[in-house]
Amino acid sequence: MIKIGVLVSGRGSNLESILASIEAGAIKGAEVAVVISDRPGVKALGVARAHAVEALTLEARGLTREDYGLKLSRLLRRHGVAQGHGLVLLAGFMRVLSANFVKQYDGRIINIHPSLLPSFPGLEAQRQALGYGAKVSGCTVHFVVADLDAGPIIAQKAVPVLEEDDEESLSARILKQEHRLYPEAVKLFVQGRLRIEGRRVVVSK
Ligand code: GRF
Repeated sequence: MIKIGVLVSGRGSNLESILASIEAGAIKGAEVAVVISDRPGVKALGVARAHAVEALTLEARGLTREDYGLKLSRLLRRHGVAQGHGLVLLAGFMRVLSANFVKQYDGRIINIHPSLLPSFPGLEAQRQALGYGAKVSGCTVHFVVADLDAGPIIAQKAVPVLEEDDEESLSARILKQEHRLYPEAVKLFVQGRLRIEGRRVVVSK
């Protein structure tokens, strides 16, 4: 059984889609052991509790990035999300992880980003796509490396940008695809079908 720790900062709709996939039996052999937020009182914590998953807050105030990473890995380990065996999912987590943390969970941290990387990394990716005049955007699930939004890509889904789109409508169209893509990618990981070869992720049949 692979134990998953999900890191969140806000709404928790991707967390919800992953929990739903596990509950529906679409992802087998994994369970969400803990959900950790860097912000107190966010909706994602309520989502976790509604699914009977332990939900904790670890605030970063007063901590260096390094110290935050240490506390985080301690908390994850305490919930069975072991280095070399567990899986850490970032689902709207708004914090950059320390290089040491990323090394400890090397190849076992996954993120979802609302653009087709390497286009529009960082904050407000949907707004960036609109501002640039892109005709197509989408979402990307990728392994996390120390550089922001730069890790090997597991899966992507393209989404059209419409003339009449604003940030809200484009974000909603992309989010719908996120909710399919992220559980699919997690399933591949849990099935042991992902192999990282340099920048490429090879998916075995
Ligand atoms: C999603 O758009 C995700 O791609 C980005 O942050 C947003 C999180 O939404 N990283 P939610 O908290 O999962 O609803």
